[in-house]
Amino acid sequence: MVELKENVSLNFALRLMYPRPTVLVSCALDGKPNIITLAWSTPLSHCPPLLGISVGLERYSHELIDKSGEFVVNIPTIDLIKQTILCGERSGREVDKFKEANLTPLPSLKVRAPSILECVAHLECKVVQRIHVGDHTLFVGEVLAARVNEGLFKRVFNPEKIQLIMHLGSRDFTTNELKLRKAA
Ligand SMILES: Cc1cc2nc3c(=O)[nH]c(=O)nc-3n(C[C@H](O)[C@H](O)[C@H](O)COP(=O)(O)O)c2cc1C
Repeated sequence: MVELKENVSLNFALRLMYPRPTVLVSCALDGKPNIITLAWSTPLSHCPPLLGISVGLERYSHELIDKSGEFVVNIPTIDLIKQTILCGERSGREVDKFKEANLTPLPSLKVRAPSILECVAHLECKVVQRIHVGDHTLFVGEVLAARVNEGLFKRVFNPEKIQLIMHLGSRDFTTNELKLRKAA
């Protein structure tokens, strides 16, 4: 059977790459912390461990990450959906998002930016490259330290114990199914 294909407007083409795991990136400058919600993050290299986050040029967090050269990728679960939306709709220029979202700054091990206690995992990064990509900057971070809540992770996450926030676009989200499926 031949599948019928329909064209997608280029404005929405990238949405074909969703759902995407949503992360909360914390950053800080001069002791003032901030949080930004991101769907555009990706692992980039095993050795050294590198990841990328794509941050819009006009975001307050862009300035903080650019100037401080550090950030933390925190992994939220579905119970943090409200906080995730708040951190993705308000700007740290106007509000203290840790206070507003009732999230707790947790001292990080290797960077000055705090981690977010309520998230299940944290990857502390130093910026090693800044790549201008259209209206975003791809910040390449080297992971200096990583932590996870006990009992959730043995080389891989136990999918029966965590439900990630998967962004579909706009204010639409889904989550991972709870079953582990091994490739044959
Ligand atoms: C689910 C979700 C995903 C988002 N993903 C990104 C992203 O990948 N990159 C980005 O620059 N902004 C993204 N945003 C928008 C920022 O989180 C938003 O503009 C935020 O208010 C910026 O905060 P700041 O000004 O304090 O840095 C996303 C928002 C939401 C709700």
